[in-house]
Amino acid sequence: MIHKEMKPFPKDFLWGAASAAYQVEGAWDEDGKGVSNWDKFVRIPGKTFKGTTGDLAVDHYHRYKEDVQLMAEMGMKAYRFSIAWTRIFPNGKGEVNQKGLEFYENLINELIENNIEPVLTLYHWDLPQALQDEYGGWESRQIIEDFTNYSIELFKRFGDRVKYWVSLNEQNIFTMLGYRMAAHPPGVKDDKLFYQVNHHANLANANVIKEFRKYVPDGKIGPSFAYSPSYALSSNPRDILAAENAEELNAHWWMDVYAWGRYPKAAWKYLETKGLAPMVEEGDFELLKEGKPDFMGLNYYQTTTFEENPLEGGVGAAEMNTTGKKGTSKDTGIPGVYKTVENPNLERTDWDWNIDPQGLRIALRRITDRYALPILISENGLGAFDKVEEGDVVNDDYRIDFIRAHVKEIQEAISDGVDMMGYCVWSFTDLLSWLNGFQKRYGFVYVNQHEEGDHDLRRIKKKSFYWYKEVIESNGEKL
Ligand code: NOJ
Repeated sequence: MIHKEMKPFPKDFLWGAASAAYQVEGAWDEDGKGVSNWDKFVRIPGKTFKGTTGDLAVDHYHRYKEDVQLMAEMGMKAYRFSIAWTRIFPNGKGEVNQKGLEFYENLINELIENNIEPVLTLYHWDLPQALQDEYGGWESRQIIEDFTNYSIELFKRFGDRVKYWVSLNEQNIFTMLGYRMAAHPPGVKDDKLFYQVNHHANLANANVIKEFRKYVPDGKIGPSFAYSPSYALSSNPRDILAAENAEELNAHWWMDVYAWGRYPKAAWKYLETKGLAPMVEEGDFELLKEGKPDFMGLNYYQTTTFEENPLEGGVGAAEMNTTGKKGTSKDTGIPGVYKTVENPNLERTDWDWNIDPQGLRIALRRITDRYALPILISENGLGAFDKVEEGDVVNDDYRIDFIRAHVKEIQEAISDGVDMMGYCVWSFTDLLSWLNGFQKRYGFVYVNQHEEGDHDLRRIKKKSFYWYKEVIESNGEKL
């Protein structure tokens, strides 16, 4: 549909950027912080590029004031960040570490003083290692109580000032990489456990949302889902069905639970036949239904294309790649269900992810049609190899082109009738990639941090910084 006249961005649109505690903070063992699963995992030789860790990351813990000043200079309306659970409860539960709360209190106050709306993520992958050791973390239903108590502590402390909350960040990705591909902690490959862990995470998510209503009645909360819309390679009905299978197993499997408290039928049947459906206890679906979010958080990077995968000759395990290493999205699939293929119509990034701005409009419309919830784009951005030129200049025109194209599609989607809350670009400053060190950069602000050699951590505003500033100032009119 072509709009003759585009609807403007809403007046209170949250133009923002996002980060995650482990990827920016550093100060991994300061002020009483406990050890997280990531603090442990990155110390296993060979797990990350050149053995990089988040011990220092981009030192946001000590430089948050400087970073917030840069956000203010840009005119940013919202900043999405996550809380490190181990700063609040070093062992995941028990006594609160006041120093940890103080850090976030200072950050939140600094944001508010600068007219930047804080968007607080409760869980962005850094689990207290103590809980992993004690009962396997997400593998046990005990996580529901511990995650809820931790979240309540934050609701009590910040609920008067923080209006927007994200519950779990990319549940589909942290469980897939942690329990299916063994690429993230706890480094397990077990399909059955993967679905069970997800069921526990769903319950924890719902319980936290239920509690949120009591403590922050005026706030808004939702999960951030990594949604990569499924396309069929051709109009052959067998390819279309493969794409629908993928949509059901890779997207509806999570979003249906968030929105309606139930699993999609065809996927459930398929997993049941395979002996992979999760064990459900009495009362689970009642709880899931009580945890309806206020919005769907969407992390959008790319789309995935599928074709039929005949029962004979299938390859590999199911995979939806939005975070893994270069090239891992190719040639994977489930025999009889789908096969992942490259989309010949799309260009690709330095990291071999496809570039598909229209896919974002498609994602926004599909979510709206199926769930009728407002949407916060909680992540979208371009990972690239940036180069600092003479005089501390970074000419990242490719990033401007990428974001511009996506912003245009958001406006199309608004004109289509999608209820859009905001757009948080990943990321504000450059930050640590979970596995890939500092090679791949996303920020509007370059940070002079490298795996080895020169790293004075100085902040350099990229060309995209000045461009996004104008976009915000003009409320999306000047692209
Ligand atoms: C999604 C994750 O939430 C974030 O932590 C990650 O760095 C980006 N995608 C880019 O891969």
